[in-house]
Amino acid sequence: MTGVIDNIDDNDLIFIASPGGSLCGEVRVPGDKSISHRAIMLGALAEGETVIDGFLDGEDALATLNAFRAMGVRIDGPEQGRVVVHGVGMQGLKPPQAPLDLGNAGTAMRLMAGLMAAQPFAVTLTGDQSLSRRPMNRVVAPLRAMGANIDTAPGGRPPLVIHGGARLRGIDYSLPVASAQVQSCLLLAGLFAEGETITTALGVVRDHTSRMLRGFGYPVSVSGDYNTTVAVKGRGKLTATHIIVPGDVSSAAFFMVAASIAPGSEIRLNHVGMNPTRCGVVEILKMMGADITVENEALAGGEPVADLVVRSARLKGITIPLRLVPVAIDEFPVLFVAAACAEGQTVLTGASELRVKESDRIQAMADGLQALGVAAQPLADGMIVNGSGREGAPVFAGAQINSHGDHRIAMAFAVAALRARDEIHILDCANVATSFPDFVGLASRAGMRIVVEGKCK
Ligand code: S3P
Repeated sequence: MTGVIDNIDDNDLIFIASPGGSLCGEVRVPGDKSISHRAIMLGALAEGETVIDGFLDGEDALATLNAFRAMGVRIDGPEQGRVVVHGVGMQGLKPPQAPLDLGNAGTAMRLMAGLMAAQPFAVTLTGDQSLSRRPMNRVVAPLRAMGANIDTAPGGRPPLVIHGGARLRGIDYSLPVASAQVQSCLLLAGLFAEGETITTALGVVRDHTSRMLRGFGYPVSVSGDYNTTVAVKGRGKLTATHIIVPGDVSSAAFFMVAASIAPGSEIRLNHVGMNPTRCGVVEILKMMGADITVENEALAGGEPVADLVVRSARLKGITIPLRLVPVAIDEFPVLFVAAACAEGQTVLTGASELRVKESDRIQAMADGLQALGVAAQPLADGMIVNGSGREGAPVFAGAQINSHGDHRIAMAFAVAALRARDEIHILDCANVATSFPDFVGLASRAGMRIVVEGKCK
């Protein structure tokens, strides 16, 4: 695929992924993004020094870290994955001098909206172009019901202008979407509210906030079918702790699919977070026939971890059970790549949330897969992918793909190259650094063939 790159922005980063290759060796993926964000937030509000090991040194988690520095919290690191947060206590944050720029990080904006709504000072939360398009009413509406005073741009988009000094009251809230970000936002606001804040999600969502609150000594009550009701009483305190951040299962997912679809692969993924509210991707891949062995299961800082050994396998298409959608929500871009290599049809429904992630992931993946010659049909709330079933043989044509600045779309198409006939050129890849700063280095050492063109941010 030479000579296909035209009209490219000077600041763009392009992945050129060459066809073929197989994966072998051992990989330790970077720290979990969701846990890294939360560790900074709770560490900042705790009394004492919180040591975080395995922190994700990626742009999203660093945006959260810098936001708390801007509010007067001393934070050392990251240095070789270690961050030390000198907590200021529940009432110790200081007004920042400028709006807090959270870059691409939706988790930072939604969770911090809850914390900032309870502060005595005003704060403005802003983000990049992608974050500025994302819906915030899902957090703003219930926060207003708690007494918060927040303005948004038209359509409930960022920036969020949060007027300080509100006295928050606990609410009993049923989330209209199964979102951990909304649930966590309200729990964090609830720490400062009068009375109890009760949140009920529509399905199982990631539970890092309640696990970590407990780790900081804050009582949390969890109940309901499948533990979807989580409640906190306000005005308690957090006590500093030691957090060990597991490898991000969402980053490991790229290697799980890569090793599954590339013939002759065997890879070991060490110290991967295996929280049951996160690892739907493992269950889905196993249903598709993947060869994944889970070894050395352990608990690290209140979170389950394990090593995964993944070997190439003959995959088959499946209908993805609805219960697995929220617990694999970030992994669908790369799961669609697995589906394209499988025999038969894979059907995903119940995943309309994919349309409001860092990009519209249903459209971005459907467009890219079609450009690569795959019969992929986007649905309002999912996708139908007709797999090639050609065991080990190339499935994808070469093409130029737009990742729309979405880290997970970029990495998913880099994985597809393992079964391509020609080069895949992936545009707008700089945001891979938000969640997986050395993706190209790790992937190349494991056997993928990716080179980067263009300037870094
Ligand atoms: C996250 C929750 C999920 C996920 C996101 C991180 C979190 O979003 O997609 O990448 O850390 O709480 P939703 O809450 O919107 O489902």
